[in-house]
Amino acid sequence: MTATDSGERALEDRFEAVVGADQRVEPRDWMPEAYRATLVRQIAQHAHSEIIGMQPEGNWLTRAPSLRRKAILLAKAQDEAGHGLYLYAAAETLGVDRAELTEKLIDGRQKYSSIFNYPTLTFADVGVIGWLVDGAAICNQVPLCRCSYGPYARAMVRICKEESFHQRQGYELLMTLMRGTEAQRAMVQDAVDRWWWPSLMMFGPPDGDSPNTERSMAWRIKRHTNDELRQRFVDMTVPQAQHLGVTLPDPALAWNEERGGWDFGEPDWSELKQVIKGNGPCNAERVERRRAAHEDGAWVREAALAHAEKKRRSAQ
Ligand SMILES: [Fe+2]
Ligand SMILES: [Fe+2]
Repeated sequence: MTATDSGERALEDRFEAVVGADQRVEPRDWMPEAYRATLVRQIAQHAHSEIIGMQPEGNWLTRAPSLRRKAILLAKAQDEAGHGLYLYAAAETLGVDRAELTEKLIDGRQKYSSIFNYPTLTFADVGVIGWLVDGAAICNQVPLCRCSYGPYARAMVRICKEESFHQRQGYELLMTLMRGTEAQRAMVQDAVDRWWWPSLMMFGPPDGDSPNTERSMAWRIKRHTNDELRQRFVDMTVPQAQHLGVTLPDPALAWNEERGGWDFGEPDWSELKQVIKGNGPCNAERVERRRAAHEDGAWVREAALAHAEKKRRSAQ
């Protein structure tokens, strides 16, 4: 059946009504092509970030300072793999194929979060990533639990619970180091100095420079602007830094009584642009490792397909 103009109109009206009433759009429902394309791009980028995000911390798995720290870090990395899987599955409900998304990541046609292009130089980085990077991810992701697209919103509920564990393990690791030696405290401060600004950049460019925000908010994919989420993160994190006993590397940081929030300095947006363009400290290494893992795993995919084919034949 070809949709007539009035038929198309009715479908659009229904979509708008569902979104407007804060109900969920489901895979079988009609949706505007641009809505579908926006979600595919966002969910794929999110899934890629979970998978690539295992690399910076995975770097420390073989050198964790104790069995306990190793078990915790391993559990966290496995959680991130799980997040990637839920999210690729959510993307597939929009009619794309996971293999195709992986190809696009490896070819550089799709992005992942800029934060994972920075190196992890000491074990304190594991703690700071949990505290700041997972903390920023929580600020970004909690509102996504109310995203208008059902499969994405539902995936986010479980992901957020696990992210909250990640943040706590990071903070607990840092508290332990801060109770240690002078050298351990210096290691924490150094990691905070390196990760603070990249963490603020995780919320994306400033609102004036974020052309897609308005439409994503109208579709209720996004609930808050980049700058609102960044502010929320700073307000949440400053008291935690004080309790921990570290200094955030921003001389402009000051409590604003009038606004009831923290004023803070401007991140170096030219650095973010460079990292997004592929010129961050570890971009090439991250994608190369992902490509190698994908190629090394080819035999597993081939074996699974051969096994499925054999089962299909024997069932005939
Ligand atoms: Fe995650
Ligand atoms: Fe996480």
